[in-house]
Amino acid sequence: MWKPSERLMETIRHYASFPATGVSLRQMVQFGDRPSTGTLFRASQFLSEELPIRLAHRVQDLGELPDGLSEMPSIKRVQDWYAQSFEEIITLPRPSLTQEVKARLLRPGRMNGGPSKILSETTQNPSVREGQYRSSVTAGNGNGVAKAHAAAGRRYFFPADDRGDWPPELNDYNQRFAKTLQQIKRRHDGVVTTVAQGILEWKRARQRMQIDSTIQSFLDRFYMSRIGIRMLIGQHIALTEQTHVKHPNYVGIICTKTNVRDIALEAIENARFVCEDYYGLFESPKVQLVCKEDLNFMYVPGHLSHMLFETLKNSLRAVVEQHGADKDDFPVTKVIVAEGKEDITIKISDEGGGIPRSSIPLVWTYMYTTVEQTPNLDPDFDKNDFKAPMAGFGYGLPISRLYARYFGGDLKLISMEGYGTDVYLHLNRLSSSSEPLQ
Ligand SMILES: Nc1ncnc2c1ncn2[C@@H]1O[C@H](COP(=O)(O)OP(=O)(O)OP(=O)(O)O)[C@@H](O)[C@H]1O
Ligand SMILES: [Mg+2]
Repeated sequence: MWKPSERLMETIRHYASFPATGVSLRQMVQFGDRPSTGTLFRASQFLSEELPIRLAHRVQDLGELPDGLSEMPSIKRVQDWYAQSFEEIITLPRPSLTQEVKARLLRPGRMNGGPSKILSETTQNPSVREGQYRSSVTAGNGNGVAKAHAAAGRRYFFPADDRGDWPPELNDYNQRFAKTLQQIKRRHDGVVTTVAQGILEWKRARQRMQIDSTIQSFLDRFYMSRIGIRMLIGQHIALTEQTHVKHPNYVGIICTKTNVRDIALEAIENARFVCEDYYGLFESPKVQLVCKEDLNFMYVPGHLSHMLFETLKNSLRAVVEQHGADKDDFPVTKVIVAEGKEDITIKISDEGGGIPRSSIPLVWTYMYTTVEQTPNLDPDFDKNDFKAPMAGFGYGLPISRLYARYFGGDLKLISMEGYGTDVYLHLNRLSSSSEPLQ
């Protein structure tokens, strides 16, 4: 099994002393659907510094957990994955370039009449309290390891001067970099389940019933950071591949015209299917959708599906359990989509009996669930994402809220005990807010 050397750990500590640099959704789409070799190379350069910084923070964080949690075998395993991925990026051989090519890479190119100033700025993420996450909101023009060559502009999106061909070494590096990222992404597929496993090991070893606020905020930070790292990696892989194939309305994994209605209908169908399957129902409780047909906005469809699927599963479970699985007529759950200037808000209202007020803080706690028997936590189970069949892991709500907050939205829950629950999913459509990072 791979283990980090003491020297590597030293390098990791050095990288961890630099803050991560937040990127906004808006900056991510500036690449357009066919970024040039030079522009991709500049983004690869940015990521080859930014990703190690983010990975290094996680290695440190995992090593400094309280109450012996860092010593749990599954936590150590995850820490090694982060260290190994860190090493793979920093040791990837860079191409040797002529002075001329280097100078050209530093020269800004012209994109639609020159780089847009407004788009390269980020604003404070409205869902994050100031100081909640330590991040530099420098819009990708930041400091980090590249302090020394700050003049070169450490920027995620930097349209390169594309007049004339680029030497083949650049494309070759881009391909190798994307391949390394693929490998890393796959390595980290099982992180959520393995960390959950680590928490269970710790609960057992230390006879703990509940996780405290230090561990809760560690998990928030850790999973939020994971969303960000996977976003940047997923985006970069997709952008590199897109130099060959063209998808209309897509820039990497971001869809500039995400249709809310289509995604909601699909999530409803999936949640109802899982519900029928789990309770052995002939027909799952119905869901009514109120949404304009042509409501489109810029978002990552995968994130939206995840949040809707998770909240709908919760509602359907509550409805069935409140009224009894043998009933043939359940109250309808309503999904209402509102379009504002700032937000698109989706309300999911069920008549599943609600949640007692004293339990509301608990629903945001990782591993809090009212399912009696937690399903088996097999790290190999559904490698792509952490999707429980119906319920029972206690991850659905807290992780969905992180997805919402990642792009400046939020998830709120209001319950009427004895009647039902309203979940409000706010999605920020201005998309200029910076990632909440640490
Ligand atoms: N709409 C709802 N109505 C009533 N209770 C709810 C509702 N949504 C969530 N809850 C309560 O909050 C708990 C936590 O929800 P969460 O989605 O985080 O975890 P889970 O559904 O138990 O497991 P999973 O990780 O598989 O989603 C649930 O177990 C349930 O008790
Ligand atoms: Mg759930």
